[in-house]
Amino acid sequence: MSLQDAMKKMGESVSSLVKNGYVVGLGSGSAVAAFVNALGERMKKEGLKVTAIPTSMQIELIAESLGFVLERYHRINDIDIVVDGADQIDSMFNMIKGGGGAHHREKVFIEASKKRVIVADESKYLKYLNRNVPVEVSIFARHFVWKRLEAIGGKPKVRTLEKGYPYFTENGNIILDTEFGEIKDPPKLESQLQKIPGVVANGVFTMKINVFFKAKNNGTVEKIER
Ligand code: 5RP
Repeated sequence: MSLQDAMKKMGESVSSLVKNGYVVGLGSGSAVAAFVNALGERMKKEGLKVTAIPTSMQIELIAESLGFVLERYHRINDIDIVVDGADQIDSMFNMIKGGGGAHHREKVFIEASKKRVIVADESKYLKYLNRNVPVEVSIFARHFVWKRLEAIGGKPKVRTLEKGYPYFTENGNIILDTEFGEIKDPPKLESQLQKIPGVVANGVFTMKINVFFKAKNNGTVEKIER
């Protein structure tokens, strides 16, 4: 049994939480893709009917190819369950997200949803968050935000594509991936970042999550309810 088996199993377990008629918020990333595939199977085999709202084009394309009925953002307040991935999860279940650049929409979706589920492989779980924090910034404010990030101890870097072109989010903004070393107080950092004018969203997530799923290298899946 491998991590790949565990990822598939994790997708199936999460898909069993979805009930007929649910409005499902789809986060982004590969772990969410495994969930979307499993949900697609249930729709085919059991005739399950759901309405899905995607956070990004990445997950929209996958859901579309499986015949999902997709809705737009006016249904955001009706989301029954959101399933999302994470880049890092600390021992207090704070997270860094935004590896795929979709964290602005993901943060709104998670806050809006009645039930919140995170899916991630075991390499994402660690004691302290220490990855660069994705900070989505309006282009015009970038020099100002850069200085403010440095003032609170950050080392920002513009996210670029392979050939050096800047990466633009689906909201038309840039991302400053910002190093803060080990993050001992994620709620404090999240609110410091959010207070900087020009910051659209930051990748520190400290809201309550109902269930975490952990896919392990030995092929098993752990469910952590909170
Ligand atoms: C995108 C995200 C993703 O959920 C995160 O990057 C995890 O992706 P993956 O499951 O592919 O590792 O936050 O903005």
